[in-house]
Amino acid sequence: MAGILVTGSSRGIGAAIREQLESRNVRVIGHGTIAHDEQTIGANLADPAAPALLWNEALDRAGGEIDVLVNNAGLFEASALDRSDIEWLDAWEDTLRINLSAAAQLSRFAVLHWLERGARAGFKGGRIVHIASRAGHRGDSPAHWHYAAAKGGMLAMHKTIARQYAAQGISSFAVTPGFTDTAMAGDYLASRGGPDLLADIPLGRVAEPEEIANIAVYCALDAPESMTGATIDANGASYVR
Ligand SMILES: NC(=O)c1ccc[n+]([C@@H]2O[C@H](COP(=O)([O-])OP(=O)(O)OC[C@H]3O[C@@H](n4cnc5c(N)ncnc54)[C@H](OP(=O)(O)O)[C@@H]3O)[C@@H](O)[C@H]2O)c1
Repeated sequence: MAGILVTGSSRGIGAAIREQLESRNVRVIGHGTIAHDEQTIGANLADPAAPALLWNEALDRAGGEIDVLVNNAGLFEASALDRSDIEWLDAWEDTLRINLSAAAQLSRFAVLHWLERGARAGFKGGRIVHIASRAGHRGDSPAHWHYAAAKGGMLAMHKTIARQYAAQGISSFAVTPGFTDTAMAGDYLASRGGPDLLADIPLGRVAEPEEIANIAVYCALDAPESMTGATIDANGASYVR
């Protein structure tokens, strides 16, 4: 295994993914808005040029070959419907850029990298794991149109990649968590009234980041190739498809 790039590995779900991958002796190239430590590449995905810089630096650090991309970095920032037009549009553009466009740019670089490697002998395939969201299926709050749209777009992109590149040894998996116990969900639960939201989850609790990481690591390392195109829910049965 050459290397795995995990975006947004500085905390939350991404940090749990990184920890579980490293416990299996996988070389992880970490990422955050800034370089939190020597193993982490700093790249603010709000900048359209950042994904290319991140990909090239990650490739360098991995010795020229990346086997798995985990698109995990994400922003969940409320944007009230009644704010000014320009504020609402700015928030829309930021969330779509960070949560969807940056993931698309990185996915494109990964697919091109694997298509190029596939022309050589010994290529064992590449995988993308997208950390999407229940919101991509179910929609979200009035202040999160952008977040739900970005995650829905991510799911559509994931299906396209899975269907178009399976024959070239490229697999795509998506994970759709419901509320998960990180800073991201904490802010939301606080703003929307925690107990009411918990009542909407039959399991009676939010997910732990380690549970979501478990699924992501399974997709990255263990899932059979025939599972490509799958979307795995983890929401305590709060949205059953
Ligand atoms: N928590 C939930 O309830 C939940 C539910 C469904 C889906 N998800 C998805 O799961 C993923 C991880 O979420 P989380 O809960 O672990 O979130 P989190 O604790 O808020 O961590 C977000 C991660 O994304 C990075 N990030 C945010 N904005 C960035 C930017 N502009 N440029 C580069 N990196 C950026 C952060 O880097 P810094 O540390 O440098 O800021 C951090 O590593 C996200 O895609 C999220 O949408 C979460």
